[in-house]
Amino acid sequence: MIKLKIPATSANLGAGFDALGLALTFYNYVEMEEAEGCFISSSDNCPIPTDPSNLIYRTAETVYNICGRDFKGLCIKQTNNIPMARGLGSSSACIIAGLVGANTLMGNLLNPDELVNLSAQIEGHPDNTAPALLGGIVTAVFDGKCVHWVKQEVFTTLKFIAVIPDFELKTEEARAVLPKEISHKDAVYNLSRAALFSASLLTGKYENLRTAIHDRLHQPYRMELIPHGREIFDIAYTNGAYAAYLSGAGPALMMIAPGENKFFKGKMRFALDNMGLGSWEVMEMHIDNKGTDVSVV
Ligand code: HSE
Repeated sequence: MIKLKIPATSANLGAGFDALGLALTFYNYVEMEEAEGCFISSSDNCPIPTDPSNLIYRTAETVYNICGRDFKGLCIKQTNNIPMARGLGSSSACIIAGLVGANTLMGNLLNPDELVNLSAQIEGHPDNTAPALLGGIVTAVFDGKCVHWVKQEVFTTLKFIAVIPDFELKTEEARAVLPKEISHKDAVYNLSRAALFSASLLTGKYENLRTAIHDRLHQPYRMELIPHGREIFDIAYTNGAYAAYLSGAGPALMMIAPGENKFFKGKMRFALDNMGLGSWEVMEMHIDNKGTDVSVV
């Protein structure tokens, strides 16, 4: 039997739409072993498909088929901490669990590049799947055939505080509100900021993050779908955040705060409660530099 620990992820990082993502210290766990048939259970109360349509199971079966191995079935036990359809990479965590789990059970026939490529082909874009697999901050370009990527470890005490609404937002829905075309000026606005963001994060020039995080490709459109979103960003900056952005396709809002800003999370919690948003969660995380961890037991 194998055990997998897969990190949550936060994609886009403001201007780096479909290109930048990082892994966070918040995890789903999956146990997996070969079986004769489909046996899927959840160790928590999270409702999951328990038939072969289950994303982990389906992905693992695909990997067996690609490698020409006989697939008889799997026994899977999931612990789903990452909330679904919130912009924290829950689908990517399932895809990576299926890919890495199947690959490990088959004796590691596929290398990391192949896993990154397959995960992007399944998910459609690599900015959540690649960091879930690799950890750190990942810069990736999917040219339609394969992913060209760089993983960089980030050594920082920065806090990533997620404000997680009590409603789901499906990625398809959040992509449907995006414009088909943007102006040359807006393209320049974004590419300069995406480049500034990763360079500033990696070199510790955090005072740049507030400028670097701005975006004109997706956030202005998606924020319309998140009541109180802009107000929460304002509160985050008042409380000393370096940057605030929409995590992935949303609806989670992510704030980057200095490690020494001790009470940032408590202040955000207090503000949300005062706004009548007591059912929204606030979570404090850091960057995970390791990515998916797999052990054979
Ligand atoms: N880059 C993707 C998006 C992330 O923003 O739609 C969600 O998977």
